[in-house]
Amino acid sequence: MLKPNQKSESSKKNQVEKMFDSISFEYDLLNGIMTFNSHKRWKKNILDIAKKLKPKNALDIATGTADIAINLGSISNCKVVGVDISEQMLSVGREKISKNKLDEMVSLETGDAENLNFKDGYFDLVTIGFGVRNFQDLEKGLKESYRVLNDTGTLVILETSVPENIIMKFFYSLFTRTYIPIMASIFSKDKSAYNYLLNSAEAFPSGIRFSNILKSVGFENVIVKPKLFGSSTIYIATK
Ligand SMILES: C[S@@+](CC[C@H](N)C(=O)[O-])C[C@H]1O[C@@H](n2cnc3c(N)ncnc32)[C@H](O)[C@@H]1O
Repeated sequence: MLKPNQKSESSKKNQVEKMFDSISFEYDLLNGIMTFNSHKRWKKNILDIAKKLKPKNALDIATGTADIAINLGSISNCKVVGVDISEQMLSVGREKISKNKLDEMVSLETGDAENLNFKDGYFDLVTIGFGVRNFQDLEKGLKESYRVLNDTGTLVILETSVPENIIMKFFYSLFTRTYIPIMASIFSKDKSAYNYLLNSAEAFPSGIRFSNILKSVGFENVIVKPKLFGSSTIYIATK
């Protein structure tokens, strides 16, 4: 079974890829049900941050079904590339891009966050939505984001987190241990995927701990913006 902190190279990455391949068609529906559609608002928050930066080249890592890449495609004169290890998630994303008539501005490629196929300093914006906690080697993935950003580039990460307030934490645990498994058992054909997603959310070093990891790989000016009582967090950092 896939474990959040699994280190062996072939196993975790391959299993993550297979898991997202298997849930690709239900991913958008379940994401909406499990976050009460809040994920759309948080992704819109990323777009608002991005617009102010006026990027010309943006990379959305772990793009999945491409919600963030599609949002970024609305920024004028901004070319967006989305990469993901799951071909099936990308295939759902490509259909959405076509429906939104964004094929000229947004392209999707198979690619690994930990070995990006782009030259140093190519992008002025890198975004990662609900992706970093799935990386095999978190620091390696963040170093790659750092490498492909130009000297004035910005990284924006959206990731699940556990509320720090003890009362909110109690309700968060209650919610994630009851509502999410029930919804997964009704709507998903792969319940173990949602167990992994829950366990990895709890195991992930969020808030100040993640901010320190960003600083340790070289990022500066790290801003931490908790969302919905700290159940998700947006991190903004510059190179
Ligand atoms: C929870 S989904 C997030 C999708 C999308 N960004 C969103 O916000 O809805 C996580 C995605 O990360 C991808 N992923 C996991 N590890 C990756 C890696 N090393 N490189 C690229 N993508 C990866 C998975 O295939 C999956 O599509």
